[in-house]
Amino acid sequence: MTASPHAAPVKTCAELQQAPAEYRHAVEKIVISHAINELHGAQVFDEPAIKLAPTPYAKWLTCRVAMEEYGHHVRFRELGEELGIPAERMIPGKTDKKALSIFDFPLQTWTEFCVIKLLADLGEILQVEDLAQCSFLPLRNLSRMTMPEERFHAEFGREFCTELCQTEQGRQAVQDAVNRYFPMLPGFFGKARSKNNETFRKWGIKQRTNEAMLEDFLVRAKAVCDELGLTLPDVSKAA
Ligand SMILES: [Fe+2]
Ligand SMILES: [Fe+2]
Repeated sequence: MTASPHAAPVKTCAELQQAPAEYRHAVEKIVISHAINELHGAQVFDEPAIKLAPTPYAKWLTCRVAMEEYGHHVRFRELGEELGIPAERMIPGKTDKKALSIFDFPLQTWTEFCVIKLLADLGEILQVEDLAQCSFLPLRNLSRMTMPEERFHAEFGREFCTELCQTEQGRQAVQDAVNRYFPMLPGFFGKARSKNNETFRKWGIKQRTNEAMLEDFLVRAKAVCDELGLTLPDVSKAA
């Protein structure tokens, strides 16, 4: 008999062990990817940004963002451990699975960090929204817990970018950071016609294609930038 997609959700980690191997491996892939990327992002962006934050208030909020991003890693990693995934497969640098290229941006300024939160965390909101419908319930619950925090991060980016845009010099610096960072973001949504994504959708682990997610992201990113009087560089080629 060939494996058929799950009609009913998988409720627990124990139940997952009874699920077809393709389903199990697909869930593991998502958990590993989130564990790696949340940790890597916290290490290269959020923690270093505490130093860049210009005021005690900004440092305080940046500490909270960093704490939450490390917390996301911890949550995904704990779920991974419950699934029997070895810890080293969930730590960047210890496994051959690479962190996403959106983290290759060489963060140097507070303005850049605010733009990263504005745009990359908007992308993360889309991912978490999709996983909040996941057929594997522990992952669905974890995504629902993570959602308000990712919303806070994007809102943090929006508020500080709004503040920076109050002066013409600040607005130009924000626009410049958008121009340099935004072209990295389509890569966050994976390749078009992705085999992995097809498997995720077959099993109801994810709901939407990479193409649909990216398209939605571009619309939402444009709306956010319009509000701030910013423009987005054309990424149709990068996409
Ligand atoms: Fe996160
Ligand atoms: Fe975040």
